[in-house]
Amino acid sequence: MQEEIINIKNEALSQIIEAKSKNELEDIRVIYLGRQGRLNKLTKEIKNLGKDERKKAGFLINESKNTILRLLVTQRNKLQESAREWFDPTTPGIKPKRGRLHLVTQAIEEIKSVFEKIGFVRVRYPEVEWDFLAFGSLNFTKDHPARDNWETFFIDTQAHPTYGPMLLTPHTSSGQVREMWRVKIPPIRMINIAKCFRRQSDVSHVPMFHQFEGLVIDREISMVHLKGTLDYFARNFFGEDRKTRLRPYNFPFTEPSFEVDINCGLCKGKGCKFCKAGWHELGGAGMVHPTVLKNGGIDPRKYTGFAFGWGVERVMMMKSGLEIPDIRLLYSSDLRFLKQF
Ligand code: PHE
Repeated sequence: MQEEIINIKNEALSQIIEAKSKNELEDIRVIYLGRQGRLNKLTKEIKNLGKDERKKAGFLINESKNTILRLLVTQRNKLQESAREWFDPTTPGIKPKRGRLHLVTQAIEEIKSVFEKIGFVRVRYPEVEWDFLAFGSLNFTKDHPARDNWETFFIDTQAHPTYGPMLLTPHTSSGQVREMWRVKIPPIRMINIAKCFRRQSDVSHVPMFHQFEGLVIDREISMVHLKGTLDYFARNFFGEDRKTRLRPYNFPFTEPSFEVDINCGLCKGKGCKFCKAGWHELGGAGMVHPTVLKNGGIDPRKYTGFAFGWGVERVMMMKSGLEIPDIRLLYSSDLRFLKQF
C-alpha cells in the first residue's frame, strides 16, 4: 500500500507541474483529492491492513494530500501571474490631463519678474506674525481700528513678552522691519509677495488674499524714485501707455502717504463709462516713516526710503479686465472656473 500511495503522489505532482490552465488543475484535483478520488479510495481500504501498516498508510495518505494541495495552489498562482503580466504594448495609453498654474500664481510670477528687472529681490516673511511686526513697529497706535478683532485674526496663544500677541499678518508691510533686521545696512530693494489675512468674506473680499510690498531704502531716496518705480510698474505690467498718479492719504508707517491711481486703459485718463473719472485705484504707498526706520535699526538721518503695498488679486483683475462676479471663486478649487485660465 505504501508504495502505491507514493506512486499516486508522484504521478499527481508531475501532472500538476505540466498543467497549462486552471481548468486542468481543477481536473487533477478532482482525480486525486476529490471525494471519489484516488487517495480517498485507498483510505477506504486502510481498514483491511494490519495495525502497524494501517498507521503508516494513514500518515502517508495525509502527507500526500497536503503536498498535492500545496503544489496545486502554487501552480494556480503562477498561472494567474503570467496572465497578468501579459499586455498589449500597442494599445493607446491614457493621456494625463495637463495642469497649469493657478491664475493668482501666474500673476505673482509676472509681478516678480517685472520688479526683478530693476534689481528688487523677492522675499517672504511669516504669515503667522507678532503684533509688533504687523502693527507696533509700524507706528500703529494701541487703539488703531486695524488691531480690532473684526479686522485681524488673532491666534489664541500666549503673547510674546516684547512683541505682543500672535496673529495672521493682515498685510505684507509686516515684512518691512523684518527686512531691515535681515539686511542691517542698506541698500534694500525688497519685493515681498505673500498671503495676507483679514476677517472679511463677501463677493469682493476673501479672508486670505495676496499682497506685494515694495521697500527701497538707501541714501537720498526721494519721492522721485517712488513715482518713477510706480510708473515703471504701470508701463511694464499694464502696458506702454499707462501711468500713475498720487493722491494724499494717511498710513501710520509712511509720511507722506499716498493712494496710487492708474489711468484707465480704455480712455487713458479722460474719463469714460468704464472708469467714470479716468483713473482706477491701485493701492497704498509712501515714504518710510523715520520711526519705522529706527525700529528696523536704520539711522533715519542717513537713510530714507519708500514703500508700497498692493493686492495681487486686484491688479490681476484690473490687468486682464476680468470681472469675477464673486472673487471667492478664485479659491474655491472649482475646475470649471479655473480651467478657463
Ligand atoms: N499695508 C497697506 C495696506 O495694507 C498698504 C501700504 C503699504 C501703504 C506700504 C503704504 C506703504 O493697505
